[in-house]
Amino acid sequence: MKKFFSSWTYLVITIFTLLSPLASCSHDHEPPTPAEAVMRDGIWEGTGEGRGGTILVRITVTNHIITDTKAVSQSESSFAQEALNKVLSNAIGRTDYLSLETDGITGATLTSQGVIDALTMAITAAKGERSEEETGDGDCSCDIVVVGAGGAGLCAAVEAASQGCKVIVVEKQGIVGGNTNYSTGGINAAETSVQRGLGIYDSKELFYDDTMKGGHYLNDSSLVRSFVENGPLTIDWLISLGTDLSDVGLMGGSSVKRTHRPQGGTAIGPHLMKVLKEAAHTRNVEIRTNNKVTGLISQNNRIGGVNIEKKDGSTYSILAKVVIIATGGFGANLEMVTRYCPNLRGMATLNHQGATGDAFTWIKAVGGYLIDLDKIQIHPTSEYVNHILITEAVRGNGAILVNSDGQRFVNEMQTRDSVSAAILSQRGGMAYLLFDQQVRQSLASIETYQNQGVLISAATIAELADKMGINRQTLTSTMSRYTEMQLNGKDDDFGRAASAMTAPLNVPPFYAVGVTPAIHHTMGGIKVDPDMHVLREDGTVLPGLYAAGEVTGGLHGANRLGGNGVGDVVVNGKIAGRNAAKEILGL
Ligand code: FUM
Repeated sequence: MKKFFSSWTYLVITIFTLLSPLASCSHDHEPPTPAEAVMRDGIWEGTGEGRGGTILVRITVTNHIITDTKAVSQSESSFAQEALNKVLSNAIGRTDYLSLETDGITGATLTSQGVIDALTMAITAAKGERSEEETGDGDCSCDIVVVGAGGAGLCAAVEAASQGCKVIVVEKQGIVGGNTNYSTGGINAAETSVQRGLGIYDSKELFYDDTMKGGHYLNDSSLVRSFVENGPLTIDWLISLGTDLSDVGLMGGSSVKRTHRPQGGTAIGPHLMKVLKEAAHTRNVEIRTNNKVTGLISQNNRIGGVNIEKKDGSTYSILAKVVIIATGGFGANLEMVTRYCPNLRGMATLNHQGATGDAFTWIKAVGGYLIDLDKIQIHPTSEYVNHILITEAVRGNGAILVNSDGQRFVNEMQTRDSVSAAILSQRGGMAYLLFDQQVRQSLASIETYQNQGVLISAATIAELADKMGINRQTLTSTMSRYTEMQLNGKDDDFGRAASAMTAPLNVPPFYAVGVTPAIHHTMGGIKVDPDMHVLREDGTVLPGLYAAGEVTGGLHGANRLGGNGVGDVVVNGKIAGRNAAKEILGL
């Protein structure tokens, strides 16, 4: 019935739209008449499925008109880019829904339809109308309410529902996925079946040591121990759900290859979210988007539900035996970021717009304890102009960094805090990531950057230098020196490990992308124990309340390793779901 209602509503809107003169897709910039459901000004997002996976688009609405569109992440082929860009640019100037037919797109049908679906979802959100998944009309009850439909929330929901619990997931945004939608690198785990199959020797002990060292030993060691121990079985669990984790790569601060990702090194996030969403649907998990939690309900000395406000301002409550908080971090709340780290003022963020840390207010209100809020990670390689995350895996697969004088200045595979600090100390606070065709072919994520038009490319280093505005001779000698050191297996200049100098960088064409650090991850948050119970300041458990993912603090200490973010999300999301179910079902 819910689905019928949603589809019916959508059909009516679409027919109305197609018949309406405004929606006949003239690029009429007149605002729509007040009687119509207009788009609200702001930035809205939506997802659709293309041929290469999930396409995430963002639209900007100004004076009720779409004034900008952007594919935030997509892995469509080079062939499909023209169609993708055409659909996106055709949407500019629209005041309402658009359709494939009216856009006259030919070829790349799956890609075009995926972008249209994503735009439709974004427009639906902008109009404040129901998305297909949005429900929740009155007070109700269930076993478990999960707050937040990102990676951690859906892992918790899928695991709890697999155990037999009735689970409702509430999400304040119009789409599921949160920051996981944007994640590229992969999932760190050691001693996994995938590593064994690929002949990679690793140990949980080494992973533990790398994580503690990377976090400057400020990590909660009990959380790190549990995280490391539960990695291999979580990887197998994700694979059993349909996740492709067949490629394993290297990220900064890791001693060996342990970052699990889809074949060819495509981005983990959109793929993982697709799998988790399907697994949730199969297990009858109800996902309610545009349902914002405003507070927790306490009853009989335990947490017993959540209060919710919907987009239209109406409110209701869900009573639950257990609540799991998986709302993510606060990297998009720049007021909060600069309150805890004033030195980050003015820096761009790589976070999705919903990462605002709202949960901290209700957690504190019921006695939960927050830690390490001043531990905020900046990612070294955010594309300089558009602030697109350029995955650390590009360096892991061989790329180097040079400054605007064409010189190397750092061991590129050090931890993020060190590399970010080194980039910020260069002229203009920026650097160039440099690689060759061999690296490009080794990592599918690079195709996305090529498609987004952010790569500078040239047949020779000298030509590349010209395009970058760098002295030819300096860049040529930097590259020759690196190639020589790589072939000798020793970085005499900056001490990059031989195992991390994965390519000689001598296969044309050559590529460069300008990068600068940007706000990436908030490492502090709710204090939890290894079972993911929320703790009070005195270390006692708050009954009925669990938390998982970026909303928690302690696992990463002062600096998170690349690949440990999604790792945290999946390992601890599953633990929270399992323990919540155990508590309810007495398993
Ligand atoms: O660089 C990256 O791909 C980011 C990964 C992460 O933060 O774990």
